[in-house]
Amino acid sequence: MTGSSVAVLMVTDSPAREPHPAAHWSAIARVAPLSEIGALDLSAFSAILVDADLSSTATIDRLKKSLQALERNIPRYFLVTEGRRVEMVQANVLRAHATETRPLTAEGLKRLLSSTLPQPVDEAADTSSAAIARAASRALGSAFESLRSNTALDSTTVARASNDIVDSVGAGGLGQWLDTVRAHHQGTYQHCLLVTGVLTNFAQKVGMSQADVSKLTTAGLLHDIGKATIPVAILEKPGKLSAEEFAEIARHPIEGFDYLTAHADLSPDILAAVRGHHEYLDGSGYPDGLMASQIGDLTRIVTICDIYGALSERRAYKPAMPPAQALAILEDMCVAGKLETALVRALRQAVETG
Ligand SMILES: [Fe+2]
Ligand SMILES: [Fe+2]
Repeated sequence: MTGSSVAVLMVTDSPAREPHPAAHWSAIARVAPLSEIGALDLSAFSAILVDADLSSTATIDRLKKSLQALERNIPRYFLVTEGRRVEMVQANVLRAHATETRPLTAEGLKRLLSSTLPQPVDEAADTSSAAIARAASRALGSAFESLRSNTALDSTTVARASNDIVDSVGAGGLGQWLDTVRAHHQGTYQHCLLVTGVLTNFAQKVGMSQADVSKLTTAGLLHDIGKATIPVAILEKPGKLSAEEFAEIARHPIEGFDYLTAHADLSPDILAAVRGHHEYLDGSGYPDGLMASQIGDLTRIVTICDIYGALSERRAYKPAMPPAQALAILEDMCVAGKLETALVRALRQAVETG
């Protein structure tokens, strides 16, 4: 299917999954049960694709042992179930080059293979947008974990991810960043990485100082950190939320603010943006129902880019909304008195030239 000489080993944990539909695709050289992975010469393959339950400790141990023994850093891909955060976290721990949502389609496999880097040996030296997004997603994973365990935020990792995103969006443009993130990341992390890219591009395009670009980028990465406390079933629910579910999700700005205030050394306007990114100028937002005069510039920008990022998400049940349509929704919200027109106009310009 790829027309190239890729020979992918597919590893699956369930005999019931055999023959795996992917077995019929020409890029898949072999389908093997997970139980046999220890006996295989993995270096004979150009990539490894794992379709196994990544929430199982036994599975992770087995995979770790085999993948760590590999001398060559062969690209490894993992299938995950939409909304199962634990699988995303584990895929990152296993140094996933890319992930795809189950069920794998021919298109999904193509996406995985095209994400393969020519020499994915030294990740620190790899400045492709895919590698930077992957590292940023790992930084998010550990930040979310720190909130859950109520321990200090690893600010060095967050700062590094933030700097790399600034470089990547600056060099490759917003479009490339959004495409990369949408192709390889799911759920809340996808959302945070998209919003971050939209913010970085906005800050760069309106000519903000290096310090402010960096501040907005960091605010983007951390704005939804409070979602670490919200059940994934609610976060990823495709349909309309019940009143109880909404009340649950509406806790995230305060959860994030409280955690970062106690466990990180961030500027007050980043903290204000984390708490206030769902506030609207007319007082109809949450959690504090602030009015325009109480909402700072940085918060207003994060709010607008957050909505744009949310509309631009790719989900299993919904393709990404085209930019023109997302901008039209933001403009309607300006007319309704919720968002600042000048900022939405600036976002339009930033997106159209990004
Ligand atoms: Fe949020
Ligand atoms: Fe958000």
